[in-house]
Amino acid sequence: MARIIAGVASSHVPAIGAAIDNHRTEEPYWKRVFSGFEKSKEWMAKAKPDVCIAVYNDHASAFSVEFVPTFALGCAAEFPPADEGWGPRPVPVVKGHPELAAHIAQSVILDEFDLTVVNKMEVDHGLTVPLNLLFGSPKEWPCPVIPLAVNVVLYPPPTGHRCFMLGRAIRKAVESYPEDLRVVVFGTGGMSHQISGPRAGLINKKFDTAFLDNLTKDPAKLARMPHVEYMREAGAEGIEMVMWLVMRGALDDKVDEVYRFYTVPASNTAVGHIILANRPRAARHRAGAHKAGKRPTARKTKTPTKRAAARAKAVVIRGR
Ligand code: DHB
Ligand code: FE
Repeated sequence: MARIIAGVASSHVPAIGAAIDNHRTEEPYWKRVFSGFEKSKEWMAKAKPDVCIAVYNDHASAFSVEFVPTFALGCAAEFPPADEGWGPRPVPVVKGHPELAAHIAQSVILDEFDLTVVNKMEVDHGLTVPLNLLFGSPKEWPCPVIPLAVNVVLYPPPTGHRCFMLGRAIRKAVESYPEDLRVVVFGTGGMSHQISGPRAGLINKKFDTAFLDNLTKDPAKLARMPHVEYMREAGAEGIEMVMWLVMRGALDDKVDEVYRFYTVPASNTAVGHIILANRPRAARHRAGAHKAGKRPTARKTKTPTKRAAARAKAVVIRGR
């Protein structure tokens, strides 16, 4: 059975990519940013996922503003880097995992998340910059990556709650895939930033810190936050953070914060980054007073009563 071992969230500022591509990572301004990802790269090298799912947004590179799917899953075998105006970034082609992607598409669509299936797509800084931050600059990306593009560029984007619930549906999909794959989910974008208009340059460290805290311990609270609060508190482009909720929804309710990093600014943005790990299966069973590897005996034979089913429903996060 495939399983999700961890989630990683990271900003995807395009200038970070340009700093890498133009060999400027040692300049003090950029060193401050990159030094925050050294530990993350070590963690990732040890975690060695078999597949990553990268929740990111396309910035009018693959999808013109003429049509922007709300959720689009990359089911192709590969995704070349997009030309964002200066030629494609000199990064490896992203290799997908068409079998797992098709399985996720089927599972979540049957769970009533009507996402768009994409069989040909180029990927922009929204996806390639976080890959660099976590994997460095290898000749080939070390594992297949399934892109999941979320619309946060054309109003109206999906709610945080919808993103969180999609994450849950993705977790169910992954856990019903028969092959033993260890999966890491990326949430990208954010944190506070506004690129244009009178509030351009807005940064809100207090909001960002609370978002990072709650991502670990109270994601239900974040999932209820309306769009307008992202806009008001984190700037127009701060809405990218709803994508982090897809990642968080794909993890278990209780997770361990492995690492976080925050620095201001990179270009116009507050760079935020967090690694959250699911607890190992055995520990989760112990926490629930179950024997490792065995299903809970008390519940094994019982079909849920109406009250138990109602209780289970009540813990599902509702509304915005
Ligand atoms: C910047 C940040 C983004 O997330 C983005 O997509 C484009 C630009 C910036 O900080 O300049
Ligand atoms: Fe962006």
